[in-house]
Amino acid sequence: MGVSVAEMAERRLLVLFGSQTGTAEDMAERIGREAKRRHFVCRIEALDNYCVANLIHEPLVVFVCSTTGQGDPPDNMKKFWRFILRKNLPPASLCQVDYAVMGLGDSSYPKFNFVAKKLHKRLLQLGGCPILSVALADDQHELGPDAVSDPWLKDLWSKILLLYPLPQGLDVISDDVLLPPKFILHFLDDDIHSKNNDVQSLNLQTTPSEQQPFLAPMLSNERVTAQSHFQDVRLIEFDITNSGMKYSAGDVVMIQPQNILEDVQQFCQLLQLNPSKRFILVPSDPSTSLPAHLPQPCNVQYLVERYLDISCVPRRTFFHLLSHFSSDELEREKLQEFSSAQGQEELYSYCNRPRRTTLEVLFDFPNTSSCIPPEYLFELIPRIRPRSFSIASSLLTHPNRIQILLAVVQYKTRLSVPRRGLCSFWLASLRPEDGDILVPLWVKKGNLMFPSDLETPVILVGPGTGVAPFRAAIQERVAQKKKGNCLFFGCRKRLQDYYCESEWAELMKMGFLTLFTAFSRDQEDKVYVQHRIIENGHLVWDLINNGRAWIYLAGNAKLMPEAVISAFKSVFQSEGGMSPSEAEQYLAMLEQSHQFQSETWS
Ligand code: 2AM
Repeated sequence: MGVSVAEMAERRLLVLFGSQTGTAEDMAERIGREAKRRHFVCRIEALDNYCVANLIHEPLVVFVCSTTGQGDPPDNMKKFWRFILRKNLPPASLCQVDYAVMGLGDSSYPKFNFVAKKLHKRLLQLGGCPILSVALADDQHELGPDAVSDPWLKDLWSKILLLYPLPQGLDVISDDVLLPPKFILHFLDDDIHSKNNDVQSLNLQTTPSEQQPFLAPMLSNERVTAQSHFQDVRLIEFDITNSGMKYSAGDVVMIQPQNILEDVQQFCQLLQLNPSKRFILVPSDPSTSLPAHLPQPCNVQYLVERYLDISCVPRRTFFHLLSHFSSDELEREKLQEFSSAQGQEELYSYCNRPRRTTLEVLFDFPNTSSCIPPEYLFELIPRIRPRSFSIASSLLTHPNRIQILLAVVQYKTRLSVPRRGLCSFWLASLRPEDGDILVPLWVKKGNLMFPSDLETPVILVGPGTGVAPFRAAIQERVAQKKKGNCLFFGCRKRLQDYYCESEWAELMKMGFLTLFTAFSRDQEDKVYVQHRIIENGHLVWDLINNGRAWIYLAGNAKLMPEAVISAFKSVFQSEGGMSPSEAEQYLAMLEQSHQFQSETWS
């Protein structure tokens, strides 16, 4: 028995997501698929693409939001966030709306799942009816965020089916049934030498953005750590002439990376795809929009190289979907096991712990891989997300240029091949000296702001590539003749990874820079930036107390930020005569008044 149009109109579910790296978007897609299995008409939207004035008319909404850096909302929900937090919204405006909030966060950051918690509270204040308590999924959980989200989703569907029982005669469509794909893919016949070339958008009216990146020529790509050093760090320069892009110190550049050619070729071979074949995509359901980042028509090479993130660690849903395509019994059984609740620990040790990539998994299931229908690739593999980098240069000293300091991510797991960061490895592999290299990028306002007046000094703490935004700030401030630049820089060894040394030396000679270095491995005992802050507590306190200096911290988020903050607090006590709780309050006051700002990353 079918479902009437009226019945389907009642069974409306809206899934709204705020996603920075794509995890929340993937989760929203998963909820959408599960909703289809329960006969809901489901719409999935990024929060900022949704017309928020319509929210009052929605019967049922699931929000999936991640929290970034310092408790901030992701970029694609910033507009919504400003709106929903407005004080003048009528208190009972959402009284018709049933909702649930799933938060995706990382408990190693102090403001764990802040956005989801606050959103849940705010929707409640506005009269919304929560059908479930907020889910606080945690990246740090040893079994990953699914350890929280799986049981929460189970509860969610029980609650939803109580409110919206299944239409008579219908059951939940079992997981064993393959749902139709989101897109239909029509291959064209003209595959001879078809190529999707990079074409610079000629529309210079619009500022480059994710929808329309600027194809920036890479001018140089120079290794700034010694060849013998374990860490490859690059100073990379792009030409942004005629892009219309402007930036200031503290801003970031977003870069849209690509898979390296070798991986693309292997993938096409495994899936028996012809790279030069062109296709047109058509959504199978009118509520689904086409991927914004693909040209139409598009060739397979472009799709695999620019769109499909074949080096990400696949999720459980990947194994589940893959199992549908398997005609090989052994492979199918294994895939089914990995996608079952009981198989999660095994999946974790096969995939997540060693950081096995999608491409490597496909290699392990060759008979299944060769049977994947290409239209399902869009469900199977997430799209490649842009990566953000602190800009390391100033337009005042480098007009029409953007420079970044890039640490090439590479590490070992128990797998024999080292793990490599998609974006950093791709960027590092590019050789501008061999010809035109164009990198899709755009700039974004960053979180760090520097004082505009001439007098206020700055204390900058940036070990490793954390120094990038401070190099930009120092260049900008020196160009504006601002003195009072005090930098704490840390690296392992003076002769191995002390980049920018000659630039600092020049600025010190000119009287623009006070520099304290901590070379952690040049002596027996580790010396870190926080030790230098304490050793120079007198000067630090003088700059803060008498100079009203602004303090900045940037770099790796593991243990460093906490240790540096503690060092400042101990200076407040030793030099400022404060008690531990007064030092705590003083720091909170500095943070609130933006005199203490930080940007950390993992
Ligand atoms: P290490 O690798 O010798 O421990 C840039 O990465 C610099 O930051 C390196 O010298 C590194 O030292 C140092 N570093 C590592 N952990 C740190 C921490 N908890 N606090 C401050 N610096 C740290």
